[in-house]
Amino acid sequence: MSEAAPADAFTRGMRSGNTAAAGARGVLLHRPRLYDLFVELALIGREPSFRRQVLDLAAPRPGEAMLDVGCGTGSLALLAREAVGATGVICGVDASAEMISWARQKARRIGVEADFRRAAAQALPYPDASFDVVLSTLMLHRLPKRARTQLAAEARRVVKPGGRVLVVDFAEESRRKGLRRHLRHRQGLVAWQEIPALLEGAGLSVVASGPLGIQTVHFALAAVRSSS
Ligand SMILES: C[S@@+](CC[C@H](N)C(=O)[O-])C[C@H]1O[C@@H](n2cnc3c(N)ncnc32)[C@H](O)[C@@H]1O
Repeated sequence: MSEAAPADAFTRGMRSGNTAAAGARGVLLHRPRLYDLFVELALIGREPSFRRQVLDLAAPRPGEAMLDVGCGTGSLALLAREAVGATGVICGVDASAEMISWARQKARRIGVEADFRRAAAQALPYPDASFDVVLSTLMLHRLPKRARTQLAAEARRVVKPGGRVLVVDFAEESRRKGLRRHLRHRQGLVAWQEIPALLEGAGLSVVASGPLGIQTVHFALAAVRSSS
């Protein structure tokens, strides 16, 4: 059974899917300029503080390696460069060629070094234990259920011992039960309890979770269990 989520303004007009990374499951975005504009308008001037809040939670430090999964146009990854400094590494992956191309252009334009690659969240192109910080922002709701589990497993695989994984997304209370909730979930909604559960299920220890204070955005921050 197909688990594809519905198309929207950003996905309409996509070119036959051949710009997507192999194996990607989820709704890819192909209109980077429109997406950046949408985020700016939707957050009504609060995008910089939203991005800062996310980075404060992940707390990248000088010299660390950070990966943004489903990085879109790269806004968060580029902002993180300052925190990791010249000795740190910033990587971003997105399954959409258009988003990656735009992220690279943005990096060149502002003179920030970052490695953006087209890749599926379900098959990250990095060896085990490559990153101190792995994060994913506003992406989970774009994935069907099984792909969410795969994302968490891949994040767990590429994070170093002692590293952390942060997932941030729009989420709702999961009190609503039954068919209605099931249908809403199939349309891409995330129940907020699902975010920490996903990370725990991947073998990570959730150290903090809750609302971010912006719209319905929730987060879960996890660390690699010391025994693993
Ligand atoms: C709503 S955007 C969020 C972008 C960015 N993280 C942000 O905070 O602005 C979700 C992104 O996930 C990407 N995406 C969806 N499914 C994916 C998959 N299976 N693998 C990698 N990227 C995917 C889309 O192409 C899109 O750029």
